Amino acid sequence: MTIRIRQIHPVFVGEVEGVDLRRPLAAEEVAAIEEGMDRYAVLVFHDQPLSDEQQVAFSRNFGEIEPAVNSNVTRPEDRRLSIELADISNLDRDHRVFARDDRRRMFNLGNELWHSDSSFKATPAKYSLLSARAIPTRGGNTEFADMRAAYDALDDETKAEVEDLICEHSLIYSRGLLGFTEFTEEEKITFAPVRQRLVRTHPVTGRKSLFLASHAGTIVGWPMPEARAFLRDLVEHATQREFVHAHEWRQHDLVMWDNRQTMHRARRYKADEVRDMRRTTIAGDGPTVAQADAARESAPAIAQA
Ligand code: OGA
Ligand code: MN
Repeated sequence: MTIRIRQIHPVFVGEVEGVDLRRPLAAEEVAAIEEGMDRYAVLVFHDQPLSDEQQVAFSRNFGEIEPAVNSNVTRPEDRRLSIELADISNLDRDHRVFARDDRRRMFNLGNELWHSDSSFKATPAKYSLLSARAIPTRGGNTEFADMRAAYDALDDETKAEVEDLICEHSLIYSRGLLGFTEFTEEEKITFAPVRQRLVRTHPVTGRKSLFLASHAGTIVGWPMPEARAFLRDLVEHATQREFVHAHEWRQHDLVMWDNRQTMHRARRYKADEVRDMRRTTIAGDGPTVAQADAARESAPAIAQA
């Protein structure tokens, strides 16, 4: 079987056929998927009934797994899944649906805000791979937005303005937008803000994209209200319908996205229905601020003349 990828949205998103993700892949197959990711930024695979181990093994083709820690308010002893899998479900460790006002559920509702995974960590994520094990009867789509298209559509003046801006991202900012403001002292330390560039350059294609997320709550050197108003404008611009694809889940879909080039968000579904989604995350290369410094140092020293 050879891998075929068909673009299903005018600007991004490919649907992949001709591969069984439960089996070890040939090097050419991995390369075809990587190329597809560079080009389409989101890939959809249907009919992939994976075990956790198979999901982890498939994910490892694309880099090191980012451990699923320090990204929610579930205590380690209450984990349902191994450390390699982020639990995107609404289930406790006994497989019971969270109560509507469960603190973990309320925190996880932050996934309904546009974001890029782990932008609140010093090294943000490369890819995320989300497997639908059980889905609700309706609702619960995941939407994706193409941050390259969003960047390209900025006017030149705005492109120049955002080029070197640095934002601070934190789970405390994104949850605060929903009125979730009660953090323990330990959580305040774990979720302390980190710095990220607002414009990133893809290491393979060289395309620029806006690195936005609801986690972004300040721009370094800007007055807070001005920063937040501008970031809101940018998110609104970047999530216009022409840059957005809504994925309607079928059980056993696996959707894989590049967090460096896209944002995503979950859509609502009924609080009493099971939605069992499991995510593996591929670690990024390093802090985005450091990447920019490295690029500048290796560039010809024309500016210093
Ligand atoms: C994620 C995420 C959205 C969803 O897995 O990182 O944000 O629809 N998921 O569950
Ligand atoms: Mn996410």
